[in-house]
Amino acid sequence: MKINGNTRILGVLGYPVKHTLSPPIHNFLIDKYKLNSIYLPFEVSKNNFEKFIKGISHIDNLSGFNITVPYKVDVIKHLYRISSEAAAINAVNTVKINKNKMYGFNSDYFGFKRSIELNYPKFKFRGKRVLMLGAGGASKAVALVLLKSSIREMVILNRTYKNGVRIKNELQKALNDPNITVSQLDFEYLKKSKLLPDLIVNTTSVGLKKTDKALIDLKYLKQRKTIIYDLIYNPSRTKLLKSASSYGLPVLNGLDMLILQALKSFSIWTGISLEDELIKSVKPLRENLKKILKSQGA
Ligand code: ATR
Repeated sequence: MKINGNTRILGVLGYPVKHTLSPPIHNFLIDKYKLNSIYLPFEVSKNNFEKFIKGISHIDNLSGFNITVPYKVDVIKHLYRISSEAAAINAVNTVKINKNKMYGFNSDYFGFKRSIELNYPKFKFRGKRVLMLGAGGASKAVALVLLKSSIREMVILNRTYKNGVRIKNELQKALNDPNITVSQLDFEYLKKSKLLPDLIVNTTSVGLKKTDKALIDLKYLKQRKTIIYDLIYNPSRTKLLKSASSYGLPVLNGLDMLILQALKSFSIWTGISLEDELIKSVKPLRENLKKILKSQGA
């Protein structure tokens, strides 16, 4: 990589950003396509966010940036336009700058959808029953993908019941009569409920810490084909995924979603075709990231 006066800047804005894997992903792609660009972390604390975001679009050689925790919602009011998906999710994780105007997108939508299609190509969303754990920031994109893909039924389990109801109400506003039920999180939910889920997705932060336990007991699953998807990728196998594997259930962690959302953002910035070109980088990126995560003790 050679930096000169024509180098274009990309980056990720958040707080903290010290552990982000986005720079290795995007700089790999920059190298692969021999672009005169660089992708950097922008760590901006809450006190400085407003000043930073007001000024950033005036850097003429800034092509765009990702946004991560805690600014995915706060950024929206500073943007010139946002995509319909970002509006429905009410979160922006990708900004493209064109003629000093900022346009917002949400590539998590694509990342979640494509990660399932890529790993379980025979799984068809239509008619499926889904159990979603959590109702926080990550749950909205997940729920929208699933409900827009004509699943039959979604049950949201959440520790704080009213947060589950809030997400349900937001989804009902964005979609036409989705079939959503909210229940209080319960470790023995699968024992007590009649639901036979085809897919269980953990969107909570539970599992990030090695000491975290699984939120539900998979022992009571009445079938052995339910896909257990945990959006967490570090650790690579949470307690939920370990228990799923021990029952012979198909599993997926969040690494592919991380990669695929990054590819979508990169395509938005560069115009490089996602399905014909960028998708080829999934495999090498998986290997690179696994090495990095291993070196971090994941
Ligand atoms: P956000 O993603 O909105 O920033 P978060 O703190 O990461 O917030 O929480 C995301 C989800 O994880 C929420 O559904 C949260 O449940 P609550 O609505 O009850 O807060 C869930 N969550 C976080 N810690 C949890 C825990 N220890 N047990 C169960 N659920 C938990």
